Amino acid sequence: MYISGAPGTGKTSCLMHVMSSLEKKISHAFLNCMSVSNPENIYKNISMKLRLSSKITNSKNIKKALEKYILSSPIMTVLILDEIDQLDCKGQQILYSLFEWPQMPKSTLILIGIANALDMTDRMLPRLHAFKYEPVLLHFQPYTKDQIVAILEDRLSSLQCNGISIIKPLAIQFCARKIAASTGDIRKALDVCRRAIEMVETNAKRQLTLKATFDDRCNPGSPMKRIPGQWQSIDLSEISSILHEVYGSRLQTFDSSKRVAMPLQHMILLCTLVLMKKHCKIQDTNLGKVYDVYRRVCKKREITEVPECTFHGICKLVESRGFIELKTAKVARMSKIILKIDETEAEHVMQDKAMLRSILADKSVLSNSLKLVF
Ligand SMILES: Nc1ncnc2c1ncn2[C@@H]1O[C@H](COP(=O)(O)OP(=O)(O)OP(=O)(O)O)[C@@H](O)[C@H]1O
Ligand SMILES: [Mg+2]
Repeated sequence: MYISGAPGTGKTSCLMHVMSSLEKKISHAFLNCMSVSNPENIYKNISMKLRLSSKITNSKNIKKALEKYILSSPIMTVLILDEIDQLDCKGQQILYSLFEWPQMPKSTLILIGIANALDMTDRMLPRLHAFKYEPVLLHFQPYTKDQIVAILEDRLSSLQCNGISIIKPLAIQFCARKIAASTGDIRKALDVCRRAIEMVETNAKRQLTLKATFDDRCNPGSPMKRIPGQWQSIDLSEISSILHEVYGSRLQTFDSSKRVAMPLQHMILLCTLVLMKKHCKIQDTNLGKVYDVYRRVCKKREITEVPECTFHGICKLVESRGFIELKTAKVARMSKIILKIDETEAEHVMQDKAMLRSILADKSVLSNSLKLVF
């Protein structure tokens, strides 16, 4: 089976949930292919995840050993490969093998591949059709407004205070409607709520601090009474401003006299990503590779580069402004960075447009290890 769907449509969570309810007598494993450093290592990773014998895991021809296991195992195996498009390699031999395994006579394997693209199998694996090995396709639709409301209410139910919801029902409805109308990405809806709650927490802490200072001044001798910070339910206007700040018109936020200056390193990161989006395959935009290109951009421009750990922090800050999305992987270098704006928008948000243009004009900073698409 191949499962597709836009980010935040619940693919991973849903499959994890299904897997947790599988019977014990079925062997199963979940593997995020972003954590596999090289597509060639996938067989070893699968073997380890399935906790197969060391004879198989350390076999010289591990692919053959796995095939033998799949054909002779007395129990069924369910293997879920998330972000399976990461196994993209020359000739797609690995992906072909994986999708062929469940079709072999006497096979005991059920393979479920997950990725964003609707047409991954058609585009990358045209021969599957010819061999009649096509997987069953399942597409996850973006969440609807009502589904988003239900998920948010469920998540927020544990945060009720004296039966009062921390976010007013109308505000939840508003957030859900806005997200459903744009992408239906539940991650974004959860993020908006998280930010709103952080805002309430900060305000409550601030109130507490001010209260303490006032008491100290009026009655310096008495022990300080701790009055719990008072909070008010988050209203529609607050949710609206968070939505606008993070996902609203980015052009407006950075336009006109109110423009917020973007730090130099943030601008170089954005320029690097625009350049890579133009010329590199999406699979190549992981943090490690972006950092390598970023370093070369800095060197060319005689700008001091930041160390990789700081670069990671910069990515998170730029993500909080809604320009990129970081898909965290087990190994930080493998985290995928997705640019959420196009070249024109990037030009709008940057003060130094000349810098963007000159970085985009220099393809020599893209290393030979990247698969370039011109
Ligand atoms: N039905 C749901 N109920 C509660 N929480 C959900 C539901 N669906 C998704 N989520 C939450 O939303 C977040 C994103 O979901 P998930 O990781 O499953 O998306 P995805 O479709 O796999 O996205 P991507 O393509 O980016 O990997 C997770 O934190 C998950 O807990
Ligand atoms: Mg996922």
